[in-house]
Amino acid sequence: MSKIIAGNFKSNLNRTQTSQYLQKLDSLVQTSDSKVFIFPSISSMVENNFKHITIGAQNCHYALNGAFTGEVTLEHLNELNINTILIAHSERRNLFGESDEICAKKFEFFKEHNFEIFYCIGENLETRNNKNELEFLANQLSKIDLKYDKLIIAYEPIWAIGTGINASAEQISKSTSYLKSLTNAPIIYGGSVNENNAKEILKISDGILVGSASLNIDKFYQMIKE
Ligand code: PGA
Repeated sequence: MSKIIAGNFKSNLNRTQTSQYLQKLDSLVQTSDSKVFIFPSISSMVENNFKHITIGAQNCHYALNGAFTGEVTLEHLNELNINTILIAHSERRNLFGESDEICAKKFEFFKEHNFEIFYCIGENLETRNNKNELEFLANQLSKIDLKYDKLIIAYEPIWAIGTGINASAEQISKSTSYLKSLTNAPIIYGGSVNENNAKEILKISDGILVGSASLNIDKFYQMIKE
């Protein structure tokens, strides 16, 4: 199975920088058999019309349009031909108060509209130290349809995101094999993935979701080549 290599730009890179990056990356990845996704910042979203890269949305409200000040809705994604979305990222949950219920509503809405859904889960350090992480992960998935055929699960331990401390191969394998007992969806890993550890992580996962290290095109392309 080809690997999923996804870059989450978060709130980085403006429109000009994003479009230069995407054009360059699209020409570089021509020979890769990985599936490459980029999630640009909301205001830098561009039409999903690249040959070798799929553009996804980092966030979207679960409505076609309407009175939702500050939100992007389905109508905006449709116009850009975007049909991939990231849901339940820990930054959305922890900084912007998105509960499991809200994440599940988004999941249902975008499932109804046939989107490819990257659904993020991951334990915090306290849960890991208490050795409750598997139960916690199962609970985070309990409100969504694990049989949805366009689901990709991104396992991203919160303590590994943006910290420079990635989960060990053993920790990733343990969580991944447990998640594989719950669903046939691909399980990708995110949390301090970079050009130095991507190769090892790709041996034990179906792909990677890369934050800060994806902002540098040379580093990100190196990960794709792995
Ligand atoms: P990071 O972020 O690679 O900077 O740790 C990953 C993510 O939040 O998806």
